[in-house]
Amino acid sequence: MIKSRLDPGDAEFLRRREAMLAKLAELDAEHAKAVAGGGQKYVERHRARGKLLARERVELLVDPDSPFLELSPLAAWGSDFPVGASVVTGIGVIEGVECLISANDPTVRGGASNPWTLRKSLRAADIAYRNRLPYVNLVESGGADLPTQKEIFIPGGRIFRDLTRLSAAGIPTIALVFGNSTAGGAYVPGMSDYVVMVRERAKVFLGGPPLVKMATGEESDDESLGGAEMHARVSGLADHLAHDEYDALRLGRRIVRSLNWRKQGVEPHPVEEPRYPAEELLGIVPEDLKVPFDPREVIARVVDGSAFEEFKPLYGASLVTGWARIHGYPVGVLANAQGVLFSAESQKATQFIQLANQSRTPLLFLQNTTGYMVGKDYEQGGIIKHGAMMINAVSNSTVPHLTVVMGASYGAGNYGMCGRAYEPRFLFSWPSAKSAVMGPAQLAGVLSIVGRAAAQARGQVYDEEGDAAMRAMVEAQIEAESLPFFLSGRLYDDGVIDPRDTRTVLGMCLSAINSAPVPPASGFGVFRP
Ligand code: COA
Repeated sequence: MIKSRLDPGDAEFLRRREAMLAKLAELDAEHAKAVAGGGQKYVERHRARGKLLARERVELLVDPDSPFLELSPLAAWGSDFPVGASVVTGIGVIEGVECLISANDPTVRGGASNPWTLRKSLRAADIAYRNRLPYVNLVESGGADLPTQKEIFIPGGRIFRDLTRLSAAGIPTIALVFGNSTAGGAYVPGMSDYVVMVRERAKVFLGGPPLVKMATGEESDDESLGGAEMHARVSGLADHLAHDEYDALRLGRRIVRSLNWRKQGVEPHPVEEPRYPAEELLGIVPEDLKVPFDPREVIARVVDGSAFEEFKPLYGASLVTGWARIHGYPVGVLANAQGVLFSAESQKATQFIQLANQSRTPLLFLQNTTGYMVGKDYEQGGIIKHGAMMINAVSNSTVPHLTVVMGASYGAGNYGMCGRAYEPRFLFSWPSAKSAVMGPAQLAGVLSIVGRAAAQARGQVYDEEGDAAMRAMVEAQIEAESLPFFLSGRLYDDGVIDPRDTRTVLGMCLSAINSAPVPPASGFGVFRP
């Protein structure tokens, strides 16, 4: 059992806690923007039409009082589009079955898909596919966001390809259509295994009446072209005709119940709560990420019984590795301790990842790294080879990976510790996270040195005043681009979470992961030891 050395009465602890609470207040404000959807005017108009909001639909679809793990709520943050990207996605339990649920938010520009909606929807389908989760779409969308069609039309074809691939993999796809589902949107019900349409509300057509008139001159109306009644009685696209939205959600639940769905992963062991309160996770990460912290303090507040069987504790001490359980599911944990990764840490990580693959144990990466060590001694000692070996191991490891960015995530450390490009099954950030190719001051300093050398080579005098201004500007830009809201906005994680929720979120992810069988181990690439 980990013995905590944290003192919750300590002034430093309280300072860190205050700073984290301030960041969480900002996070709440950003989440509130996503929940507000298209704003009061459009929400009121939607309600006046007797319709439920996207999140209300989700709430009525999932089992009463069961949790919903919303994914990427900050998508589109920092872009020209509203926070949340006009779609709600997440994992919820329907009739006892964990499902991936995706709901258009029709209060945001008619629920049209902008480039961030597309990325969020593709990510949702990817999660459903890799974790074998039935995929339920709550459809009401104006299709492609027309002014940005160039960003979405061609890559957007994947939405429909993914739906058919899910179906081909035996993963059920269900569409509940509440309103408009035009053009490309019509292929969502078109590609789904099960389709429910709401009477007098669902409108599913390749082209609406104006387009038909333009194309063929034919006079038509919404109902005969794509109404729910027509699709239920004539075209056969709808399997069920719902009286209203509630009825559609009831039918959706009934469809899931009839799937007789069985999870194919491992059963969890009995669950034991950690010995230390999650509340104390607020006071661990320092504001200045250059100050190291002991990740065992985090592990002690996340894993079952605070029990952690540390592996190679005396070797490569800047990376903590070991075995634990979360909500009864065994995991191997890799957590940065001092920030920097040296050769020994890389070798230790590689061995540990191989061991986890041998025993088919999922891996949890807790990131707080400034990257691999630079300098003559380290280069001569083979830091490139050893870092490459660790990255090779992470890339080819077949057990499920989970990543939490607690603090720094800089340079190739982001890669070795299973950053987004290494496709962990789920990746969450804490509000204290920062990620970039290197720290803002270092990056500005490198640009300055390079600029100075270039001026010298041209025989010019270096503009010192301009250099100071450039450094300040670059530092501010990189700092802003390193922050978790910005990165979450670009879908580089699956959400920014309250550190206190880490155990719950990871438990839900581990449960979802085990809907699929644990993939068989396969080989690694050539290691250069
Ligand atoms: N692209 C960009 N903006 C869109 C849009 C789209 N596909 N669909 C709707 N919007 C915008 C509207 O311009 C409007 O903006 P505004 O309020 O700032 O002026 C806002 O979303 C709400 O649209 P509105 O038509 O008032 O909402 P509605 O609920 O009455 O109708 C639709 C919604 C989706 C039925 C209707 O907007 C529509 O038919 N859109 C076009 C559908 C289409 O042909 N899409 C092609 C897909 S390939």
